[in-house]
Amino acid sequence: MNKRIIIAIDGYSACGKSTLAQQLAKYLHYIYIDSGAIYRAVTLYFLQNAVSYHTIGAVSDALQHISVEFRANENTGNADTWLNGKNVEKRIREIDIAEKVSEIAAIPEVRVFVEKCQRNMSRHKGIVMDGRDIGTVVFPQAELKLFMTADMDTRVQRRYTEMKLKKENVSLEEVRRNIEERDYLDTHRTMSPLRQAADAIVIDNTHLTKEEQLDYALDLAKKVIASPLIRQMPDDTHSKKD
Ligand code: CDP
Repeated sequence: MNKRIIIAIDGYSACGKSTLAQQLAKYLHYIYIDSGAIYRAVTLYFLQNAVSYHTIGAVSDALQHISVEFRANENTGNADTWLNGKNVEKRIREIDIAEKVSEIAAIPEVRVFVEKCQRNMSRHKGIVMDGRDIGTVVFPQAELKLFMTADMDTRVQRRYTEMKLKKENVSLEEVRRNIEERDYLDTHRTMSPLRQAADAIVIDNTHLTKEEQLDYALDLAKKVIASPLIRQMPDDTHSKKD
């Protein structure tokens, strides 16, 4: 039986986590879970419904009306994010969501809600999940933890190019400001801040092509999967319960 593991990929904004996570999931036939997309979908709901998110009661009420899922998109070969039955994949990547998401992701009730979604989506092994707290909080038991980084100019340029391809009306300076601000908020929040797990392997992909980063990470994954220290139970559900 082919052993299946959990791969946790954490790191700063726009340093290629989701690209690598998608590549690994496709190659290994694993499920990819983009945890940032869930935070983005919650942010979209809060903005659309003018939720006064500084008020705890309002946040808890609003969260009861949110359902986020990932559904396969046959055209792209990737999974799209759906919020309450509507495809919001394109919308959640826009700059107004990026400008608010880290503030909303710092709210403890929101983090508890998203963690629950993450666990519901990953009841069995064979998961690649990317985010900020996956190796430290969500799956501290992940068999492979990667921490991605790249230099700031490279990250800004990559995200700017990505947004321009999607015809977003945004300047290079706005993208830089947003990435710097999110890095700050994500590393300074009280609950599950962005940290490198002690047992994570760092990948600086500033000078790596997509193929090179995949080769490197795949090699690590194959070694972990082949390790006799990794045992597989017949029905390998996660030990940590909701
Ligand atoms: O793709 P990008 O680097 O722009 O970010 P993302 O993965 O879409 O995540 C958007 C935001 O959600 C991050 O800036 C964090 O504030 C938040 N997030 C988080 O707090 N914890 C996670 N596990 C994933 C995302």
